[in-house]
Amino acid sequence: MTGEATTRPPRFDAAFRAQFAELVRWRRDVRRFRLDAVAPELLERLLALTACAPSVGLSQPWRYVLVESDERRHAIRDNFLQANKAALEGYGGERQARYARLKLEGLSQAPVHLVVCADETTAQGHGLGRQTMPETIRYSVVAAIQTLWLAARAEGLGLGWVSILDPGAVRSALDLPPDWTFIAYLCIGWPEEEHDDPELERHGWQERTCAESVKPLKR
Ligand SMILES: Cc1cc2nc3c(=O)[nH]c(=O)nc-3n(C[C@H](O)[C@H](O)[C@H](O)COP(=O)(O)O)c2cc1C
Repeated sequence: MTGEATTRPPRFDAAFRAQFAELVRWRRDVRRFRLDAVAPELLERLLALTACAPSVGLSQPWRYVLVESDERRHAIRDNFLQANKAALEGYGGERQARYARLKLEGLSQAPVHLVVCADETTAQGHGLGRQTMPETIRYSVVAAIQTLWLAARAEGLGLGWVSILDPGAVRSALDLPPDWTFIAYLCIGWPEEEHDDPELERHGWQERTCAESVKPLKR
């Protein structure tokens, strides 16, 4: 069935494409936040946009939790400190010294702490596309996170993904619903600085390999 067109599709011009490329280039993982609040309506607007992210079978399996209580935020911060200490101990020599100098989260400053989960048991989508690859539910949630990341950057907001955490301890500290898989702990707020290169590159941890990493194998 062909639906009647109600709105004219937009035509994205060269200026928009150039700006979009700038948005992609200037999106950063942010760990240095100002303390200023983020208006709840702005966050709502950004989350609403993520509902348009691609998802396996149109399952829309992303689920969000705002971590507001000081007690729970402290539990997450302690979780990070422990996990980060263990990670540091896994390195030796100069690499360990470099690791110790990195700032790998903005948990104490970020005004918004957002947990993103995947509803592994959602009936939405009737299982389409995930019978052979159930992990596509989680991939769909990551697609929503990337949408949020870019949308936040377009508003001048910074987002930082904190994965140096014991996921089981996150689950119990936040009392997450049993069917939800913990995917990401995100810090969101107004960035203290803006850069067009990743912090890890700037601080000598890892260089980007733009050309090589996107070269497809041919089969
Ligand atoms: C799945 C995932 C987990 C991440 N976890 C952390 C983290 O725990 N701490 C951190 O500082 N950065 C984390 N990052 C951010 C990456 O370090 C960052 O994306 C990368 O260095 C490139 O920098 P850019 O995002 O500014 O381009 C994570 C990113 C992703 C995609």
